[in-house]
Parts: sequence; C-alpha cells; structure tokens
Amino acid sequence: MSTESPPLNLPPGPEGNWLFGSMNEAKAEPLDFFVRSFRQYGDLVRFRMGRRQLVYLLSHPDYVKHVLVDNAQNYPKPHNPPGRLLGKGLFASEGDFWRQQRRFIQPAFHPDRLGALVPHMVDSTRDMLDRWLAESGSGKSFDVANDMSRLSLSILGKSLFSEDVIEQQPEVLEACLEIVRMQNIRRSMLTSLLLKAFPVPTQRRKRFRAGIATVDAAINSRIARRRADPTAYPDMVGQMLEARDPKTGEPMSDKQLRDECANIFFAGHESTAVALTWTCLLLSQHPEVEQRMREEVAAVLGERAPTLQDLPKLRYVTAVFEEAMRLYSPAWIMARQAKEADKLGAYDVTPGTVVVMMQPILHKHPAFWDEPEKFDPERFTPERMAKRPRFAYYPFGGGQRMCIGSNMALMAATVALSMMMQRVRVNVMPGQEIILEPVVTLRSRHGLQVTVSPAPAASPPRAATAR
Ligand code: HEM
Repeated sequence: MSTESPPLNLPPGPEGNWLFGSMNEAKAEPLDFFVRSFRQYGDLVRFRMGRRQLVYLLSHPDYVKHVLVDNAQNYPKPHNPPGRLLGKGLFASEGDFWRQQRRFIQPAFHPDRLGALVPHMVDSTRDMLDRWLAESGSGKSFDVANDMSRLSLSILGKSLFSEDVIEQQPEVLEACLEIVRMQNIRRSMLTSLLLKAFPVPTQRRKRFRAGIATVDAAINSRIARRRADPTAYPDMVGQMLEARDPKTGEPMSDKQLRDECANIFFAGHESTAVALTWTCLLLSQHPEVEQRMREEVAAVLGERAPTLQDLPKLRYVTAVFEEAMRLYSPAWIMARQAKEADKLGAYDVTPGTVVVMMQPILHKHPAFWDEPEKFDPERFTPERMAKRPRFAYYPFGGGQRMCIGSNMALMAATVALSMMMQRVRVNVMPGQEIILEPVVTLRSRHGLQVTVSPAPAASPPRAATAR
C-alpha cells in the first residue's frame, strides 16, 4: 500500500522569477500587480515570494469569510515583534493577550457610550469650518488631507481624554503627521528593505523617534494625571481605567494603557482622514450627489448642529461616505497566516501560507457590483445591501478582529460631512495629478489641494431614498 500523500491542489498563479518569485513585481506596484493577477487568474491566486513563501490572494467573499470568521482560529495575523509606536496594543497583538485586551476596551466603544462623543465631533468640525471660512477670502489653496487628519486627531483626543490634545499641544499634531509620513515611507516595501539594509540614523528617523517621544509624553502625562484624580470621567480613558480583567480582577497597567491610546490614535485617525479626503474629491466630481446631501441635511437639521438622534436620519450622507470607502477603501490590504493545513474551496492551503485580502479588488468585483467604477451612493440602501454577500464590502475588516472604531468612524464622518454641507463648498483645485498611493492606508500621494467657499443657499428639501 502506498504511503504517499496525494499531490497538493494549488491555485493558479504566476511562476515569477526562479529566485525571487513575484517579490519584485509586488514591491514595485503593490496594488496594481495584484489587481492584474486577479484579472488574469481569478478569485484565488497563488504567488511565491522569495524561494519558498507562498502567498494567496483571496478575492471572493466566501474565501474572506472563511479566513476572517469561519476558520479564524487558523488564521492569526502574521507575527510582527511589538514596535515602538503600537507596542502591545490591540491592533498589533495576538492570541489570548489580544482577546483579553479586546474585552477590556470593547465597552468604551459600545454604541450607548459613543453617543456621548457626538458633541466632541460637532465641536471639532465647527472649529475646522470656522478656520476654513475665516481664511476662505484669501482664495489660497490648502491640502485638505492635513486638515482631515487634524480633525480626526482632535475628535480622538477629546474622546480619549476629554481634552483637545492637539489644540493644547500643537506639537502633538506635528508629531503625529511626521510619524504617519515615516510609517508610509517604511511601508513602501522597497524602502523598508533599504532601511533594514542601511540602518542610517537620518534626520527623518530622528524626527520619527522624537515624534513618538512627544506622543508618549502627551499620553503618559494625561494617564498620570488621571490616576491621581478620583473623578470618574465619562471618556475612553476613564472607561479603560475602570475596566478589570474578568478572570484576575486586575486593572490595565500604565504601559498597556499607553499602548492602547497610541493604537486608537494611530489606527483611528489616518483611515478616517483619508476616507473624508476621498469623499471631498468624489463630491467635487459629482455635484448632483452633493446637492442631494445638502437637501437631506437641510430637511433633517436646517441650520442646527447634528445630535445623536439625527444621525440615523442622515442616511444619504452616510451612504455617500460608505460608497466613497467602496471606491477608495482606506484599508487596502489585510494579511493572515495559516497555522495548519486547510482548504479554500477545492484548493489546498499549506501551513505558513500567507493569505492577503484586498478591499480595492473585492469592492469592485464585477460579480458583485454593477458598473463597479461608478460612484453611486444608492448602492447602500438596506435592500441593495441585503442582496450582497457580507464580505463583498468590508472596509472595516470582519470577524473577531473587525475594526473596533467602525461605528465611531461612521458617526464622525456623518457629523463632519453634514456640517460641511451646511456651511461650505470644497472646491478641488483643477489640474492636480491624483495618484493612488497604497501605503499604510490608500491615500493620495500629493494630498488634495482645495479652496473653500461658503455653501450655496439651501434649496427646498426633497425626499431622500438611500437606506
Ligand atoms: C474610516 C475609518 C476606519 C477604517 C477604514 C478602519 C479600518 C480598519 C480595519 C480594516 C481593521 C482590521 C484590520 C485587520 O483585521 O487586519 C481595523 C482595526 C482596528 N481599528 Fe479601525 N478603521 C477606521 C477607524 C478606526 C477608528 C476611528 C478607531 C479608533 C477609535 C479604530 C481603531 C482600530 C483598532 C484598535 C483596530 C484593531 C482591532 C483588533 O485587532 O481587535 N479604527 N480598522
């Protein structure tokens, strides 16, 4: 009797270079190369990176569901040693430690608690719009991506600490922007290899370290003040300080609190800011959509600021943001690594295989989206959403590691966009080259230059139908 196991059934894919496999193509064009491979080979593509590492690209909702939900225990995040910035925070940790932390932090993101953050979202947006309108007369253009980062950081600072951290300490804003710039340089895969090969302490690297030190000092001093203050603050840090491990009864250590604050700051601000920036671009290209948003906002809010109760009524505004994240998903790649042998459909997965899932591919998969390139917020009516598989659209990931801030991001975006509709028109400067840059998030390489003018007078309301 033969003891040989049957040959593995591996998915189709490019052979690549005998030594490097497809590594060079993937480094040179991280998104385009995978999009082309999907078009050529289909919903499951196999690559070799280097001599041995197998990488599968998953582009069917069922495969994504299998990895993130059905057999999630077999697919942890690929191991990375804790970095200086995120430490052992939620985004970066794994296994039992991650599970315990998620239990600690989840209550701070409960929908009931998030309601208390709406006034912070309103205040931060109002400050931004006041600034824009005060400077609008000059006609000078500015990069709206920076202002959206500032807005997100302002909201996150208030949500964590009940203080506008970056208003009080503008150096924290600068530090955060520099850290993101450096992370983006590192993330471009080619440069990350160069950085490893030549660990030169350049000015930039020094600024990166100094940036982390600035952020650490801002977070640590606030945690220390809180420890010394018996008042129960109704903010995220207040809730994290109160949380106890259900098994041991122990509270979180200061170091862990610092790591979680840094994770929330950095996982939270850049993606929200990038998504709002893309929304500005799309609205400038689709005045009819913008007009409908203004009508909905006029009907629901008139001139007053949104409250928690208003948010479900601003359906079209939220749908516009969701559709913007379909076309330009801030999270553009998610990776997991198989612990044990598994099957994806008819194909074998060997232990150690890295599986990657790319939102920009599934969000435009022609089997699930009609006219995938068209900007159409009506796709997000409940009826049309119910007809699509869950993982045809997953800007916030899914399963147990789904984004903890998804509701908060949707709320902040709905507040910000509604208030923008009430007060301003964002005019994208003509002639600028928009280049998609897949780094930590999917951003516009040169930002987005805009000018701002006061909003046109409101027109009579019309019934909105999205959602
Ligand atoms: C439009 C905005 C946002 C997008 C598109 C986004 C996207 C994502 C995605 C795709 C993941 C899952 C990554 C993976 O499984 O590999 C994730 C995780 C995470 N996000 Fe977000 N996010 C956004 C906003 C936020 C906000 C506002 C916060 C915090 C206030 C936040 C905090 C986190 C954290 C802590 C994790 C890790 C969760 C865990 O592993 O348990 N995100 N996010």
